[in-house]
Amino acid sequence: MSVESPAERLERMRREAQLGGGEKRIAAQHDKGKLTARERVELLCDPGSFEELDAFVRHDCRDFGMEDKRVLGDGVITGHGKIDGRRAFVFSQDFTVLGGSLSGAYARKICKIMDLALKAGVPVVGLNDSGGARIQEGVESLGGYADIFLRNTLASGVVPQISAILGPCAGGAVYSPAITDFNLMVDDTSYMYVTGPSVVKTVTNEEVSHAGLGGPEVHSRTSGVVHFVRPDDSACLDLVRQLLSYLPSNNAEDPPRVEARDPAGEASELDSLVPEDPSKPYDMHDVITRVVDESSFLEVHADYAMNIVVGFARIGGRSVGIVGNQPNNLSGVLDIDASLKAARFVRTCDCYNVPIVTFVDVPGFMPGRDQENGGIIKHGAKLLYAYCEATVPKLTVITRKAYGGAYDVMASKHIRGDLNYAWPSAQIAVMGAKGAVEIIFRREIQAASDPEAELERLTQEYEERFLNPYSAAERGFLDAVIHPHETRARLLAGLELLETKRDKNPPKKHGNIPL
Ligand code: HXC
Repeated sequence: MSVESPAERLERMRREAQLGGGEKRIAAQHDKGKLTARERVELLCDPGSFEELDAFVRHDCRDFGMEDKRVLGDGVITGHGKIDGRRAFVFSQDFTVLGGSLSGAYARKICKIMDLALKAGVPVVGLNDSGGARIQEGVESLGGYADIFLRNTLASGVVPQISAILGPCAGGAVYSPAITDFNLMVDDTSYMYVTGPSVVKTVTNEEVSHAGLGGPEVHSRTSGVVHFVRPDDSACLDLVRQLLSYLPSNNAEDPPRVEARDPAGEASELDSLVPEDPSKPYDMHDVITRVVDESSFLEVHADYAMNIVVGFARIGGRSVGIVGNQPNNLSGVLDIDASLKAARFVRTCDCYNVPIVTFVDVPGFMPGRDQENGGIIKHGAKLLYAYCEATVPKLTVITRKAYGGAYDVMASKHIRGDLNYAWPSAQIAVMGAKGAVEIIFRREIQAASDPEAELERLTQEYEERFLNPYSAAERGFLDAVIHPHETRARLLAGLELLETKRDKNPPKKHGNIPL
């Protein structure tokens, strides 16, 4: 019998590690329409760039017959590869090994790359497909999760962290993705929840499916937990690559710059985009696409709180974060969900040095009992706080309404807007004309011989006095009133000017954002 050489032994072990839970389970994974953990890593990284670490780690559990299930790698692939030529750390959970469940050894593998990522200033991408805590390991596994949560938190705002949910993600395991910067899901094959349908049935007697409890539709439309949904693993991994292209590798760098492209639409079309009747809607996407580089707009949270639009784009090849009220949806009003969505996005841009361009057309905060009782005060304050504390370049364009507190909130001059522009159609006022006149001229209107005519006359006077950009421009609250077709040129010049912007907040342990 020939003796295996050291080199042969290494090769055999590598082959064994490649197989994870074995051929049958790989086939089962494919039958579900999912890629394997290794296939995902290969698709995510530039070809041939992935370098695996800890491929020979095995768990050391001896309970419940686990000594016979010591698979090389223990159900998670970890390492680093290049994404568009830049390094990123990746962990990819392997459902073929004990359902991708997390053991102590498995958690240590993830923690090791997170520690390295933090030291090297390199993003971390987590590909999640796991049955959660490895039940046989008990508290060892729970501790492993906590070790990861701690690192997610310490790395937050230092290196970008992206979580793709490509299968189950249940129990406390959801809190790692929840702390990271972006969550992505895949149609049909992924779900996320704190407690599954069977526990829900036991506790509340409610019957609910996996998808109804935590499928992509729920999380992208209703809960807002998830920022993006794509039809399959491959499209989702492609999106991870795209998303990283807007972000620096860490908070000490600027985002990568690419070649500039002209916008898709004609700038002159902007001049007639805002309807004369201020109660008529238009689509803020039509403004965005005519201002940013062609095909560069990547909308974040596209299906959640659609009364505000947020996303990354490029202007002259530079990454920017776009925030825009959406007159097409609830007249672009700021409600609880819109405030949360935009606040999170503004803070994400700020921690990764992405300048923020804000397009304003907002009638105010949403009135009503539901909103007040739901805490619009504290949630709206989050958006205000996020804009106030942001020190990245802040450029603002008021396209139409900027009413009430929402004027202040949406990156106004007063909260350190660097360059604030308005179109001639802008209306900057405490509130709309009719409401204002009814309050301040109530007595005069009642006393008039023809109250309706008086109301109309006063409304018109108010409109002429306030519903334009010029009283704000007189005070320097706007830097310029510009034709809509001049917007891109102004933003290009502003971004170039502000590339060297330095601004700081007072030293503190951390602020106390109203959570
Ligand atoms: C150990 C597990 C496991 C787990 C799955 N497996 N989950 N082993 N610990 N958590 C094993 C199964 O025993 C099975 O092994 C293999 O993985 C594949 O699982 P299946 O059930 O056959 O797969 P499927 O039918 O696709 O169902 C997937 C599933 C289900 C819905 C995820 O496996 C499931 O409900 N698992 C338990 C989920 C759960 O409750 N986890 C704990 C959540 S609490 P064999 O050898 O039979 O093929 C938690 C706390 C975290 O995670 C706390 C952090 C603070």
